[in-house]
Amino acid sequence: MWCDGSVTSLPSTTSLVDLATRLALGAGELIRTHRHDHFAVDTKSTPTDVVTEVDRGVEAYIRDELGRQRPDDAVLGEEAGGRSGTSGVRWFVDPIDGTVNFVLGLPQYAVSIAAEVDGRIVAACVHNPISGELFHATLGGGAFEGDRPLPGPREVPLTRAVVGTGFGYDSARRARQAAVAAELLPRIADIRRLGSAALDLCAVAAGRLDGYYEVGLNPWDWSAGVLIAGEAGCVVSGLRERAPGGRMTAVAGPKLASELFALLEELGADDV
Ligand code: IPD
Ligand code: CA
Repeated sequence: MWCDGSVTSLPSTTSLVDLATRLALGAGELIRTHRHDHFAVDTKSTPTDVVTEVDRGVEAYIRDELGRQRPDDAVLGEEAGGRSGTSGVRWFVDPIDGTVNFVLGLPQYAVSIAAEVDGRIVAACVHNPISGELFHATLGGGAFEGDRPLPGPREVPLTRAVVGTGFGYDSARRARQAAVAAELLPRIADIRRLGSAALDLCAVAAGRLDGYYEVGLNPWDWSAGVLIAGEAGCVVSGLRERAPGGRMTAVAGPKLASELFALLEELGADDV
C-alpha cells in the first residue's frame, strides 16, 4: 500500500508537470556535469544490467527535491525503491533510462518522471539531457516537445513500418525476444533498438518511429512515455485487450496498431 492516509485536496496536473519538468531539467544538468567522470558501475539483476553512481546520485537529487516540495507524496524510483505517502500522488522516477547508452557515451538516454493519481498517470516528462529534447504531457491536456504540440504517429502500412523494441537483461528471455523479432522483421520495413524505452515511446509520439513494443518494462521505464504517446494520439496497449505495462507495452498510430498488435499477438510477443 503506497498511500497511507485519506486524500484531502489533489494538485493540478499542470503543477505536477511543471514540477516534473523542473526536476528533469535539474537532473539533466547533473548528468551533463558528471557524464565524463570516472564513475563507479555496478550490476543488478544480471551482469549486463548496470547502474552507475550517476544514476544513484541523480535519483537522490530528484527524491530530495520531491521530499522538499511535496513531502506527502509517494515515490517509486528505479534505484532507491519505494517510499509511501499520504497525498494520493505517487511519482515514478527513472534517473537515467538507457543506462547502458550512458555508460557507452551514446547520447540516447533520458530522465523520466511521471505522476500518478488514483492509479492513473496524469503528468509526465521525459528529457534527453544531451540532445536537449524535453517531452511532456498531462492527462487530457495534450503532449508537447518543448512548446510544440507533438504531431503524433505517422500512419503507414505494416510493410512500411519502422518499429522500435527492446530486449530484457535475462539471456533466456532475450533468446525468445530475438525469435519474435526474427519473425517480425520480414513483415515490416525495419526494426530499431535504440536503448531507452522512454525515448522510444516519445519517438512514436513525435512520428519518428511508427511503432514500439517491449516486454518486461518497469513502471519507471514506461509511465511517462505511455502518457506522452497516448496524449499524442497513439494507441497504447498491453495486447489481448490488456492495459499496457510490464507484461507488454505496445504503441502505434490507430491504423497501424490494429495490424501490428494482431501480428504481435500471433507471434506470441507477450509470452516470452
Ligand atoms: C532500460 C531501457 C531499455 C529497455 C530495458 C530497460 P534502464 O532501462 O529502457 O531500452 O530495453 O528494458 O530496462 O535499465 O536503462 O533504465
Ligand atoms: Ca534507469
